[in-house]
Amino acid sequence: MAQLTVVKRDGTSEQFDAPNGYTVMEAIRDQGIDELLAICGGCCSCATCHVFVDEAYFEKLPPMKGDEDDLLDSSDHRQANSRLSCQIPISGDLDGMTVTIAPED
Ligand code: FES
Repeated sequence: MAQLTVVKRDGTSEQFDAPNGYTVMEAIRDQGIDELLAICGGCCSCATCHVFVDEAYFEKLPPMKGDEDDLLDSSDHRQANSRLSCQIPISGDLDGMTVTIAPED
């Protein structure tokens, strides 16, 4: 389990516990934050689950694969700390992490 803080597009944030076995995208969706569209359901084919990850945690994430990298390249809002939240599994290492939902493309 990890406690996540999610910063929404209006600047407000929500903090909640996310269980192991979920991805960050699934945890955000289950929290009822519907601005993270996650249209493809986590198949790494839509990029609508784009988030900016707290720099302190970025190095703890699993390495980015080529398809995620390619999808992020299609975003006008890509930053050095961009990831697709459906590609980040929850683990205790992420406890305390903040992610910010990227602007809509
Ligand atoms: S939900 Fe579609 S790429 Fe993450």
